[in-house]
Amino acid sequence: MAVPDAIDFELKERAMDEAPVGITITDPDRPDNPLIYVNESFERMTGYAAEEALGRNCRFLQGEGTDPDAVAELREGIAAAEPVTVELRNYRRDGEPFWNEVTVAPLRDEDGEVTHFVGFQVDVTRRKEAQLALSAERERLDRLVDRINGLLADVTELLMQGVDRAETERAIVERVAATGAYAAAWIGEPDLARDELVTSSAAGFDGSLDDFTVDLDGESPVARAYARETVVRDDVDEAFALDRATGHLAAVPIVYGDATYGVLAVVGVDADALDDRELVVLESVGKTIATAINAARSRRGLTADDLAELEFAVGDSSLFPVALAEAWDCRLELRGSTVADDGGLRLFVAAVREQMADPEPPAEVEGVESVTRIGGGETVLFELELAPRSVVDRLAERGAELRSLDVESGVAELTVTVPAETGGRVILELLEDRFDDVELLAYREQERRPTTRTAFVEQLEDQLTERQSKALYSAFYSGYYDDPRGASGDELAEAMGVSRQTFHQHLRAAERKLLAAVLG
Ligand SMILES: Cc1cc2nc3c(=O)[nH]c(=O)nc-3n(C[C@H](O)[C@H](O)[C@H](O)COP(=O)(O)O)c2cc1C
Repeated sequence: MAVPDAIDFELKERAMDEAPVGITITDPDRPDNPLIYVNESFERMTGYAAEEALGRNCRFLQGEGTDPDAVAELREGIAAAEPVTVELRNYRRDGEPFWNEVTVAPLRDEDGEVTHFVGFQVDVTRRKEAQLALSAERERLDRLVDRINGLLADVTELLMQGVDRAETERAIVERVAATGAYAAAWIGEPDLARDELVTSSAAGFDGSLDDFTVDLDGESPVARAYARETVVRDDVDEAFALDRATGHLAAVPIVYGDATYGVLAVVGVDADALDDRELVVLESVGKTIATAINAARSRRGLTADDLAELEFAVGDSSLFPVALAEAWDCRLELRGSTVADDGGLRLFVAAVREQMADPEPPAEVEGVESVTRIGGGETVLFELELAPRSVVDRLAERGAELRSLDVESGVAELTVTVPAETGGRVILELLEDRFDDVELLAYREQERRPTTRTAFVEQLEDQLTERQSKALYSAFYSGYYDDPRGASGDELAEAMGVSRQTFHQHLRAAERKLLAAVLG
């Protein structure tokens, strides 16, 4: 259907004026291909009124941030009279930069001659900035991954080399401190007796941190990381401050399961060095170190594992041995303990007193269900049946074992062992919760007693002399311990070619060692 020319023209003009994208027309027959038409969207987008824009080449929108390659693409497209689309940085009248997606196309007359160029402008700032941010982010992430991958791989390799822990940790802090974004690194290990972390290794610091300690009750990032078992990022605190490190400190706990072996502190060269993702990776570094420490421990074999041994003084008479020693006015020593059939704990304690009157079981001591006296003399042995949920029970629930107990003058000194992975802190907290006047006297790590039957037998055999071992084995296998007895002592002595008395000496020595190994 034919539309009258006038209406057609008016409609087109209105559509162009009010189109939601910028529309521009240039006249290539005039010098420098100036604008002869701009629509309202162009005016709004650029901030230039039509009368300021007309007569000028549209390059006036360009500025120092405009990519010359994009401009060249436009120039070449126009010269070749071919449509071209580019995204380039332009500047509004007030100087604010924006991203302009420009499409330029030639307009031809009936003869195919180019009479004008039309341009379409779309403000794509938001999309472009999001894209740019994304690719900057990707690049950053790539760099981070490269850096961290190398770090994790190197740390793992150092750990696999299996040299001793101190040397490994030194190598690790050196490796971390050599990482571009980090200025220095430190590993501290707990000294529970002193309730602090002490320097195990440090690299990248100006001075020596050998005597540096972190109070575990304090609020420093390192203390918080240790207590909460999470990575803590904070300002560089005094001890870690470096001339060249103006940024942050990441305190990374070295945790495996229930065990916290220490804290790795990493000082970033600037605040950006330790962003959230970096912390995630550093957390893995901490875990890797802890896993390796743990693995190194279990690699030592099935026969031995580490135990932490803690020595406490408890001066609280609500602890039952203290109460008993006070009631009996004597010194008390733990001789051994056993678990009864009903699951109740029994302790054998010796009451030692110079002038032992006749210590009678006191009427009632909290935590003790019954007291039975065994034997007499200068040292009187008592069997104590402990009430359920006694403190000894509570220790046992945490894998801890009461190894020795001595009470004198109202103070109980006890030695407790606990699997090193559990850590001594749990035990300290348990006692502190329950009793007043608890002091940790010593904390050390020691070899665990054998945990497999083979290992147990091997260790026992190491302790027996050849003759003791022969006496014990031949007695057992010949039915000496059966009822009725298989072989007699005389027969066994004869078989070993020794006197009856000598045989019994060897056998009793072997039995004593066997019992000590089982009960001791
Ligand atoms: C119709 C038309 C519209 C144009 N629109 C823009 C624009 O919005 N922004 C811009 O930077 N360049 C625009 N240009 C491109 C410039 O005018 C110029 O052609 C370009 O900078 C390349 O030429 P030069 O190297 O001489 O500067 C447009 C060109 C034409 C023909």
